[in-house]
Amino acid sequence: MAVVSVNNLSKDYANLRAVDNISFTIEEGEIFGLIGPNGAGKTTTLRIMATILTPTSGDIKIFGYDLKSEGQKIREIVSYLPEEAGAYKNLTGLDYLNFMASLYANNKSEKDKFVENAIDIAKLEDRIKDKISTYSKGMVRKLLLSRSLMYKPKLAILDEPTSGLDVINSIEIRKIIKSFTQNGTTVLLSSHNMLEVEFLSDRIALINKGKILVEGKPDDLKKEYNARNIEEVFIGAIQ
Ligand SMILES: Nc1ncnc2c1ncn2[C@@H]1O[C@H](COP(=O)(O)OP(=O)(O)O)[C@@H](O)[C@H]1O
Ligand SMILES: [Mg+2]
Repeated sequence: MAVVSVNNLSKDYANLRAVDNISFTIEEGEIFGLIGPNGAGKTTTLRIMATILTPTSGDIKIFGYDLKSEGQKIREIVSYLPEEAGAYKNLTGLDYLNFMASLYANNKSEKDKFVENAIDIAKLEDRIKDKISTYSKGMVRKLLLSRSLMYKPKLAILDEPTSGLDVINSIEIRKIIKSFTQNGTTVLLSSHNMLEVEFLSDRIALINKGKILVEGKPDDLKKEYNARNIEEVFIGAIQ
C-alpha cells in the first residue's frame, strides 16, 4: 500500500524551477531512494516533504495526511535528517540525545524510551558519554541518525545519510537504516552516489535537473537499460 504519494510537485526559487512536476509513491516499510547528481532537486524535494519549504504546486499525502492542510500532523509522524547536519559540539552524545528527546517526548518515561532507542541504534558504547567534538564524522552521523529514528517515526526522511563517509561507516549506516524498516518505519532517502544506493534502496527514482527520469527497482532498471549498475542506467536515461 502506498503511504506516501507525491503528485505533480514543482518548486520554483525566483526564476529557477528546482523541482519540475515530479510524481512518485512509496510503499509502507520500503526504502525509497531519490538519486541524482548535485543540484538535481533532491534536497528541495525532501525539505518540502519535511514541511520546511512550501511547494509551488502539487499535492503530497503522507500516511493519509495532506501536506498543505495538515502539516502539524505530518510533523508528528515524520523525522528529517538534514544534509550536512551538525550536532552541538560542546554536548556529550548522551546530553544531545536527552535534549533532542525532551523536545518531542510528552513525559519522562517516553523521553527515557527515546534515549534508550537512540543508544541502541547508534551503538557508540562508552563514547556516548564523550563530547561530540571528539567524535569522528562517522560517529556524528550515527548519533544524528539515531536521533532521527529514536521516535520511531512512520516516515524517516534522510538527506544524503552516507555522504562523505568511508566504506565501513557507510555500511554501518546502511545496516541501521535497513534494520529500521523492520520496526515499521518507511524511509525516503537521497543520494548522489549512484553506486551504493542499489544496496540500500528497495526502489529508486533517478532525478536530474528537477525531473524524474525513471523509477523502479534497481534490478529491473538495470535489465531495462541493459546496464551493469545504476550509473549506467542514469547515463542511458538522460539520452
Ligand atoms: N534557497 C535556494 N535559493 C535558490 N536556489 C536554490 C535554493 N536551494 C537550492 N537552490 C537551487 O535549486 C536546485 C536544486 O537544489 P537542491 O534541491 O539542493 O539539489 P540537490 O539536493 O539534488 O543537490 C539547484 O540548482 C540549487 O542551486
Ligand atoms: Mg542535496
